[in-house]
Amino acid sequence: MQVFHTASGLREVLDKARRKGLSIGFVPTMGNLHDGHLALIVQAAKSNDIVVCSIFVNALQFGLNEDWDKYPRTYESDCAKLRQSGCHYLFHPNDTEMYPNGLDTQSRVICPTMTDVLCGASRPGHFEGVTTVVSKLFNIVQPDEAIFGIKDYQQLAVIRRMAEDLCMPVKITSAPIHREPDGLAMSSRNSYISDEERPKVTVLKETLEWIAQQIVAGNLEFSKLQKDAAKRIKSAGFKTDYITISNSKTLQPAAIDDRQITILGAMYTESARLIDNISIALD
Ligand code: PAF
Repeated sequence: MQVFHTASGLREVLDKARRKGLSIGFVPTMGNLHDGHLALIVQAAKSNDIVVCSIFVNALQFGLNEDWDKYPRTYESDCAKLRQSGCHYLFHPNDTEMYPNGLDTQSRVICPTMTDVLCGASRPGHFEGVTTVVSKLFNIVQPDEAIFGIKDYQQLAVIRRMAEDLCMPVKITSAPIHREPDGLAMSSRNSYISDEERPKVTVLKETLEWIAQQIVAGNLEFSKLQKDAAKRIKSAGFKTDYITISNSKTLQPAAIDDRQITILGAMYTESARLIDNISIALD
């Protein structure tokens, strides 16, 4: 695996690959890689000749009181994992390379409406930071395909919408949620969870599954289901940020006759904010 710290260096080799007719698959990350990320690399390698991964902890998508400074940076072990998973090129820029004119004057990409709800409501500006950095990364890498995990369901939906709205010539592909043996969705932030909380945090997934079962069984009282779900999470000792039953595409509250439904949840533990989701298709 070859590592590039500058966009120009990476572009040079990718231009050559493109001229040879090779296809490029891209997996953007913020590092601290787990098996879920590595599955994205493996998936990218199955359908592309060249696999590019980026590691960049993007300050633009973190709020002022969020965890940008303590976000786990594990560059050496990430590189070892990427090498084993078949990644060809790693792009690892610093802040100056990505934002040479500083953050305040950086041009931004905004995807309205979809980013005002769910995680966007509790993390103002977060998705603007994501869409801006992903657009920049797409322009640098110019991939044929970019792969994102379904765990960050809203992020995936927003990026799909951005690519469609802005006619970006890249195929956006999703990859399934990777889970720990007890069902907890893998996340770089799981390391924040305390040993005491760890056995109980599966309540989020269990609660989303309970809602899904209720809906499939014909219970369409969405508002009551959401309230009851928050009670379940509270009795496990955690605080609900949101539990919503949404239209899978628009992310707006699901209507009774919607057929593609995604149940999304976010909850706070003592030191972490965890998210998860489940999608169901009704006949
Ligand atoms: O999902 C992530 O790790 C980040 O939001 C992304 C897509 C790499 C943009 O910084």
